[in-house]
Amino acid sequence: STKPVTVAAIRAAKGGTPLVCLTAYTTPVAEALDQASDLLLVGDSLGMVVYGLPSTIPVTLDMMIAHGAAVVRGAKRALVVVDLPFGSYQESPAQAFRNAARILAETRCGAVKLEGGAVMAETIAFLTQRGVPVLAHIGLQPQSVNALGGYSARGKLSAEAETILADARAVTDAGAFAVVVEGVVAPLAARITETIRVPTIGIGASAECDGQILVTDDMMGVTFGHVPKFVRKYAEVGATMKAAAEAYAADVRERRFPAEEHLYGAPKPKIAAG
Ligand code: KIV
Ligand code: NA
Repeated sequence: STKPVTVAAIRAAKGGTPLVCLTAYTTPVAEALDQASDLLLVGDSLGMVVYGLPSTIPVTLDMMIAHGAAVVRGAKRALVVVDLPFGSYQESPAQAFRNAARILAETRCGAVKLEGGAVMAETIAFLTQRGVPVLAHIGLQPQSVNALGGYSARGKLSAEAETILADARAVTDAGAFAVVVEGVVAPLAARITETIRVPTIGIGASAECDGQILVTDDMMGVTFGHVPKFVRKYAEVGATMKAAAEAYAADVRERRFPAEEHLYGAPKPKIAAG
C-alpha cells in the first residue's frame, strides 16, 4: 500500500512482524525499494558507498541534505530517516537541534539518526522533546573508527556487553523511537531486544531483533569490494552493469549501435507558406 509509514507505526512494530529497512541515497533507488520497505535510511555510509571515501568521517551535512531530499522525492510509503554526519551533533544538544532542524526542513524526511549510547542520551532527549524524532544507533559506531581503530564486533567481553545494554536503556529512556544495533554478538542483541520497549533494528546483530537493515549496495552487489560477513547478497548489480557496458562497447565498435529504430528521420519538407 502507499499509506505512508509513520514514526509511531515503527515504534508500534515492537515484537511484531520484523521491520524491513534498507539504505537509499538517490531518487530512483528509493523508488525501487519503497514498496518493499518500512524504513529507508539515508545513511552516512554514502561517503564510502557513493563517494569512495575511506570512512564516514568526511561526510558533510550538505551531502546528507542533498541525498536526503533526493530519497524523500522517491519514497511514497517508507519512512525516510537521515543520518546526522560526524561533527554535526556531538558538540552540544543545541548544535544537534540546529542541524537536525535543517535536515527535517530541507529534506522533509521523517526522522534523524545519530550514533552513541548513554553519552548521547541528553542530546536525544533535547531533540525528541522539541519535535525531532530520533533513531538511535548503538554497538559498532562507524563514526568512532578513529577512536576505536576498526570495525570489529562489539560485546564479546561481558563488561562491554553490559555497557552496550546500558546504552540501549539510556537512548530508549531519552525518547528514541527505535534503536539500530550494529555489529554486536547475537546473544547481546537478543537481550537488548527483550529488554527495551522500542524496536531494535539489527545489522550484523541477531534474527531476534525487531527489524533488519542492510546497506543496499552491499546486498545488491553493486560494488566489487569486500562485503561484511553479515550481508546476504540478493543480486549482482555491479556484474550486470559491467556486462551491459561490455555489450554496449562491442555494439559501438562493430557499428551495431545505433540501429535504424534509434535514429531521427530526415527533416520533413517545409510546407509552403499560404
Ligand atoms: O550509514 C548507514 O548506512 C548506517 C546503517 C548501516 C545502519 O548507519
Ligand atoms: Na550511518
